[in-house]
Amino acid sequence: SQKRKVDETLSPFRLSHEQLQLVKARMRAGLEAGLKRKGSTAIKMLPSFVYRTPDGTEHGKYLALDLGGTNFRALLVNFKKGLQQNTRLHHKIYTIPLEIMQGTGEELFDHIAECISDFLDYMGLKNARLPAGFTFSFPCEQTALDTGTLVSWTKGFKATDCEGHDVVSMLREAIKRRNDFDLDIAAVVNDTVGTMMSCAYEDPQCEVGLIAGTGTNVCYMEELKNIEKTEQSTGQKQGDKMRGEKKVGDAEIQKMCINTEWGGLGDDGSLDDIITPYDVEVDQTSINPGKQRFEKLTSGMYLGEVVRQVLLDLTRGGLLFRGHVTEALKTAGIFQTKYLSQIESDRLALLQVRSILQGLGLDSTCNDSIIVKQVCGTVSHRAAQLCGAGMAAVVDKIRENRGLDHLNITVGVDGTLYKLHPHFSRIMHQTVNELAPQCNVNFLLSEDGSGKGAALITAVGCRLRQELN
Ligand code: BG6
Ligand code: GLC
Repeated sequence: SQKRKVDETLSPFRLSHEQLQLVKARMRAGLEAGLKRKGSTAIKMLPSFVYRTPDGTEHGKYLALDLGGTNFRALLVNFKKGLQQNTRLHHKIYTIPLEIMQGTGEELFDHIAECISDFLDYMGLKNARLPAGFTFSFPCEQTALDTGTLVSWTKGFKATDCEGHDVVSMLREAIKRRNDFDLDIAAVVNDTVGTMMSCAYEDPQCEVGLIAGTGTNVCYMEELKNIEKTEQSTGQKQGDKMRGEKKVGDAEIQKMCINTEWGGLGDDGSLDDIITPYDVEVDQTSINPGKQRFEKLTSGMYLGEVVRQVLLDLTRGGLLFRGHVTEALKTAGIFQTKYLSQIESDRLALLQVRSILQGLGLDSTCNDSIIVKQVCGTVSHRAAQLCGAGMAAVVDKIRENRGLDHLNITVGVDGTLYKLHPHFSRIMHQTVNELAPQCNVNFLLSEDGSGKGAALITAVGCRLRQELN
């Protein structure tokens, strides 16, 4: 029957408890390999040069720039001394047009500099030379808080002449080319790290940052002694610098935040046994085939594409849309996160699902809309479970690092998939509980995005710089 055939098509997306345990184990192995080995590993495990979470003494005015999510944002953050509260004076959102995301690096950074210039005009701060933190949500190889070499673009970006270059220098040069304002860029920060920091400002137990949005990624506080590649990759100078910082302040430095770039799990083939033909198609037609395989199973930019591949197959098999493959169905990117989220909402009647599909150019019968909803549900369920399995690996590692039988920990979270989807967060939480029963994991939604975190890191960075000089 039709129902049986649809179920058969969807069965490879249904993962057993054992399969999820395996994903957890592979994530764990990937984290360990990335910490040990210098050079390319599926999971990059990038040092962030952030040694501690905020302690509430941060103060001053900072500019935060945020590139890599759905939009570019500029914000001004003011921290008041002693008060564990801040005033976000203002922020502005700018879109990055596709032709800029995929044009030349110079055009991209000129565009960003133009947005900053506009923001400073708007705030009346053109002559202030503010300290700034740059949230740059892509993998960067850092040798200090304020330098980061882009390893490779991910998500929808592919501007030329950026990979292998320091993104802070590129931004400084673009600002110099404009010559109408100046900034003191003190930190470059991954969005996971910014999210963790902004949540840790509210909750000191927060030592993990998670993004489930356009892309997916995690950072966490790792013991310095486990980060074997730092010494190798950064050599004597870095060792000296770290020792120098060790003397500063009261607390001895024992940890560093690691940007895992867990979206790369599976790039070495380690997920091949759970990857479906639909996932292969999505990967092959993406701008970075073979890369970010875990991200392509779990994040907003790709879930709709996986759904579309399944719908195409069902339609070709005559099980859907009366067997008609329409132009709309052939259009890449039609199922954005917000539509998936609407389609899966339980408060929505089927008639409304049909009208959403209609809006996307897909004529459906009542039965079609039931199947579409089932496909969306199955694909996003798997995404949430995989994300949960990965998180279980991370929190269990932290627990073992500390030699504990039981760990209480908070994860700071951001991202449109986590925030908008009606079931993703619940299923992910459930999976973490099942797969990491010795951890009590509390998820804290980031309120101001990662910009506030970047400002906090900038505050710490500026203070260290003063103390060292
Ligand atoms: C925002 C952060 O709040 O969340 C961004 O400030 C981040 O830096 C983003 O990339 C992730 O969400 P999305 O869904 O827009 O990719
Ligand atoms: C991609 C990026 C990563 C970022 C994540 C979430 O995976 O490579 O750096 O944190 O998306 O935005």
